[in-house]
Amino acid sequence: MEHGGVVTIVVAVIGLLLVAAAAAIGLKRTNLPYTVGLVLLGLVLGALAEGVEWLGPLQELTLSPEIILFIFLPTLIFESAFNLDARLLSQNMAPVLTLAVPGLLLSTAIVGGLLALVTPLPLGSALLFGALISATDPVAVIALFKELGAPKRLTILVEGESLFNDATAIVLFRLILMVLAGGVLAAGTLGRGVVEFLVVFVGGLVVGAIIGYLMIRTIALARDEPLVEVTLSTVVAYAAFIVADHYLHVSGVMATVGAGLVVGTLGSTRFTPEVRTYLHQFWEYAAFVANSLIFLLVGITVKPGGLMEYFGAIGWAILAVALARAATVFGLVPAVNRLSRAEAVDRRNQTVLFWGGLRGAVALALVLSIPADFPQRGMLVALATGVVLFTIVTGGVTMKPLMHRLGLDRPTLVERLGRLQAVLAAKRAAFARVEQLGTAGHFSNRLVTDVGNQYLGEMTEVDQELGALRSELETDEMRRVLWSEALTVERHRYREMFDRGLISEPVLRELELSVDLRRDQLKRGEIPREIVAAAPIEVRFGARFLGLFGKLFPRSRIVHRHRLRALAARYERDTAVLDACEHVKTEVTQLADLTGVEASVADECREVYENQAGDVMVRIDGVAEHFPEYVQAAQRQTVQRIALDGEADAIEQLASTGAIPPSVAKDARHAVEVEERRLARQPIAALEPRPEDLLARVPFFQDLEATNFQSVANLLIPRTVLAGDTVIRQGERGTSLFLIARGVVAVIVALPGRPPKRVASLHAGEFFGEMALLTQAPRSATVQAMTGCQLYELSGEDVNRLCDRLPAVRVALMQAYEERRRSGQRPSLSS
Ligand code: CMP
Repeated sequence: MEHGGVVTIVVAVIGLLLVAAAAAIGLKRTNLPYTVGLVLLGLVLGALAEGVEWLGPLQELTLSPEIILFIFLPTLIFESAFNLDARLLSQNMAPVLTLAVPGLLLSTAIVGGLLALVTPLPLGSALLFGALISATDPVAVIALFKELGAPKRLTILVEGESLFNDATAIVLFRLILMVLAGGVLAAGTLGRGVVEFLVVFVGGLVVGAIIGYLMIRTIALARDEPLVEVTLSTVVAYAAFIVADHYLHVSGVMATVGAGLVVGTLGSTRFTPEVRTYLHQFWEYAAFVANSLIFLLVGITVKPGGLMEYFGAIGWAILAVALARAATVFGLVPAVNRLSRAEAVDRRNQTVLFWGGLRGAVALALVLSIPADFPQRGMLVALATGVVLFTIVTGGVTMKPLMHRLGLDRPTLVERLGRLQAVLAAKRAAFARVEQLGTAGHFSNRLVTDVGNQYLGEMTEVDQELGALRSELETDEMRRVLWSEALTVERHRYREMFDRGLISEPVLRELELSVDLRRDQLKRGEIPREIVAAAPIEVRFGARFLGLFGKLFPRSRIVHRHRLRALAARYERDTAVLDACEHVKTEVTQLADLTGVEASVADECREVYENQAGDVMVRIDGVAEHFPEYVQAAQRQTVQRIALDGEADAIEQLASTGAIPPSVAKDARHAVEVEERRLARQPIAALEPRPEDLLARVPFFQDLEATNFQSVANLLIPRTVLAGDTVIRQGERGTSLFLIARGVVAVIVALPGRPPKRVASLHAGEFFGEMALLTQAPRSATVQAMTGCQLYELSGEDVNRLCDRLPAVRVALMQAYEERRRSGQRPSLSS
């Protein structure tokens, strides 16, 4: 590009950004939504640019489909997916996908059919228009939702639908264009179309998710370098889009959605809090710039004069689009409500979904990408532009009053209560400060009393308001408020522990999921009495895979390390839960005071947390008993981490005041990080099984000399199992013997027609699994770990070899067999 051209474009872009910033400030004072204001401003600027010379550079900037699709869209999609609550999205997947896929198809068909009837457009072109115009663009609406504090679910429905229907529309548009170019509707096109659509849609999502995941892994290398991490996130947004769209020919939009969801979800724990803030601010800014430019450019590009020619057809198109939207929302959503188990989308929300179906940049990009020689291109561009302008302006302007009419902008009773509580707490804090000033004696007493009294007055007012509000709430609702607060405190506590390095990321995710599940329970009107242990999906998947892998390769180091880590994670989780329970218990008293719930409600909540604390305490004690070195190492690690945390804080403080130069701070930070990583490995090392334990504990090994023992130890396969794991299942074929080095297992026998019964507990030094080996019969009982256990497995042949070397082993096995047989009334070996 020549020098002058670049300057012109830079000047134009800067000019537009200036206009956008000015508009953002100016429009605050009006009732006009920002995006609508920008489009109108763009229209004015576009008109002026033709006549006023110094606005000339603006004419260089037109909305080309490439600019929208390859520059703006990845940013907008990534930002939106990145900030989306993936859990809430998955709960609302049924309505979102229904609207985005079948809904979009239905809308395409209705718009296409109607326009083919009432305008000169042939059916093919009308359907092409139907596809491109059916993708919704909720920027204006979402901005309003944020401003009005609309329910979160509504935001998810609207935003989720638009993320997925962009992809659907693009794919469908390309398919129709291809068929039209081919001229004939070949037999099997429909079937192929469906398959192709699925490949493109799902393929894109998978490609994006993989790229997002790889990026998260890469980011781990750039620990605490916010600039690098932000850069990488930009790379991933665009890489996902381009790789999918350009190289793999799957949906770029879906890829960016996948990448955004993965980075947003995993990133919530993989990034440090500072980096998280950084990323959010960066992407918010990027989306602001992209949106501002898009809406201004929409205005500038549109030539209202050119639309006049198609005035009537545009009117029909607007009507068709509205009818199609009504049919999809009011037709499909009630059906989903009946079919899916998720919470129903009520009439009010449906109305907003209908009215909020604005059209935007994707529609324009697609229509502009229609080849120049396409017969009705001019008309299609005019129709799309007309519909986009109309929906943005009317939808944007009327959305707020509509939400108000529907009462969707009103905070619920519970939200109002929360707000008032916050105000009261703030006033109290202010009052305490003022009182302090009085005692310090720097200010006149009268002044201090005056200000203090003012606060006292305000506090009484808020208190009265609170009282009035509380009397409106039923006990049940109050209980829900208290529980909800308790869950918030609990979740917060876990986050705090994580940020201080006290719990690891997988444990945090598990605990947060557990809180979220209980919040769902609360929403359904149940009181969450139990802290459910819940593994996030990727953890469950990993465990499944490793379980299988372990069966195939029992001596694998990977599986072994994984089991050790799982054992450590359980302990970590239990100690975190214990801490959180204690914390919530003390907080509930304050919460109860603030919310004014009845004493019995607070007592109930406290009791549940008390019981939970008791339960985990038993487990923690179990670990302490069987793995004392581990617990010691873990505790030492905690203390050291807290100390390191202090060190890190001090470094930051010194660096921020300039007391140490940046290079020194950097070195110091690095040293802390290295130490942190070293610490993370320690407790696990203390869990490594030590065959010497067996020597000390298993009676028949005691005759063995230490040197001989080594050769026996080589035959043993160490197996670490978690509390609750099943080691042997009754009825299975058995080919090995297990020795217990640490922990306790339960032997459970199920006789036909009777419930399973525990017949024995076996401790360190004992063994099990000898019966099936000796008799070749199926396993006579199920053996389940009651605590974390360290076991050693010995194959049947090795048992025989061992018996030959150590006759005491055979005697011990036979003895145990006879005793256990007798107690279980099983046949004797000789019979
Ligand atoms: P096996 O039948 O191979 O698998 C289950 C094991 O549980 C069994 O070997 C014994 O080792 C153990 N077992 C079965 N019954 C009892 C019992 N009554 N007391 C202790 N251990 C038992």
